[in-house]
Amino acid sequence: SSFVRPSIKSAAKKAVRSFSNTAVANTKVAVLGAAGGIGQPLSMLCKLSNEIDELSCYDIVGTPGVAADLSHIPTKSKMIGSLPHPGSWPPRSDDGLAEALTGADVVVIPAGVPRKPGMTRDDLFNTNASIVQTLVEGCAEHCPEAVLAIISNPVNSTVPIAAEVLKKKGVYDPSKLCGVTTLDVCRANTFVANSQGWDPKDVDVTVIGGHAGITILPLFSQVPGMKVSDEEREALTVRTQFGGDEVVKAKAGAGSATLSMAYAGYLFTENVIKAMNGADDIVQCAYVESTLTDAPYFASPCKFGKNGVEEVLGFGELSDYEQQWFDKMLPDLKKQIQKGIDFVN
Ligand code: NAD
Ligand code: LMR
Repeated sequence: SSFVRPSIKSAAKKAVRSFSNTAVANTKVAVLGAAGGIGQPLSMLCKLSNEIDELSCYDIVGTPGVAADLSHIPTKSKMIGSLPHPGSWPPRSDDGLAEALTGADVVVIPAGVPRKPGMTRDDLFNTNASIVQTLVEGCAEHCPEAVLAIISNPVNSTVPIAAEVLKKKGVYDPSKLCGVTTLDVCRANTFVANSQGWDPKDVDVTVIGGHAGITILPLFSQVPGMKVSDEEREALTVRTQFGGDEVVKAKAGAGSATLSMAYAGYLFTENVIKAMNGADDIVQCAYVESTLTDAPYFASPCKFGKNGVEEVLGFGELSDYEQQWFDKMLPDLKKQIQKGIDFVN
């Protein structure tokens, strides 16, 4: 049994339990940006997972130490810590990115700068766009078949950037590229559970759209048994949309969500691996290429399978309240997507 159970879908949970004895694959996960605020705890959760056989930690600084440190934890996964240049732990190749990525089944990317108070995620674009571009070029070269899970902000634009890079390299497969929006689902679940007096593990809110401000839309109308006034619904919706800002403010210049994101990123990754290894009812929200709306990328529930996203599922009916947010969100989301596409082309 694994360290952290997925709680995104209870159906998935069941599948995983019945499956856990039959996994045969030698699963390799690469974390790019592994020495950072998200990267370190995310790598630690991966090191604790029974689903992962090999874990490579890549960053421009610090990963030899992170990997040496994690390697003393008595779990099965083999550790590699690599840098762009020689100096990896254990010392091996001259090309640390190649070493980190070769053979990877899933590449999780939290590399890039985080927000400070007063910034939007889009303010990170200038720095993070080229970081994501460079790293995804490496993925195209060294692990073109891996599922890429993009955490680096602004996710609404970095996922289209990744797609354009992969297209240029001739290896784009929409079922293998996801923006990670799991933290929005975690927040929505937590806030609803608190408001209703429920155990958060029993809640699974569908959150659609993108991952920035009003492009985040939690569908509380679809939560069975939830009872709220209009004011409470508004407050829960806005808190989910701006949950990231709450953490940025509280950290007061020291960055944004790292621990909750590490948990969310780990949950997402482990579900992807479980589906890859044969669990057949893994459904979780992800920001993917999509024809559900006018926006070419959109977060919605997705069914995962052996090759990543097997099916982009619909998101059901919206209430009038949700429809208003939806209409407001789409122009913003489309603009942020186009900005990513234009960056590469
Ligand atoms: P951080 O600054 O603590 O860590 C980022 C790491 O990336 C650093 O260790 C840095 O050395 C590394 N890095 C920078 N350039 C690199 C490159 N070219 N190759 C490899 N590594 C590189 O930041 P953090 O708090 O971990 O946040 C990372 C990113 O994740 C930010 O962009 C943040 O906005 C985003 N984020 C996304 C979500 C989400 O829900 N998707 C949630 C929280 C944070
Ligand atoms: C979050 O939602 O916490 C992240 O996207 C980080 C941020 O900038 O808010």
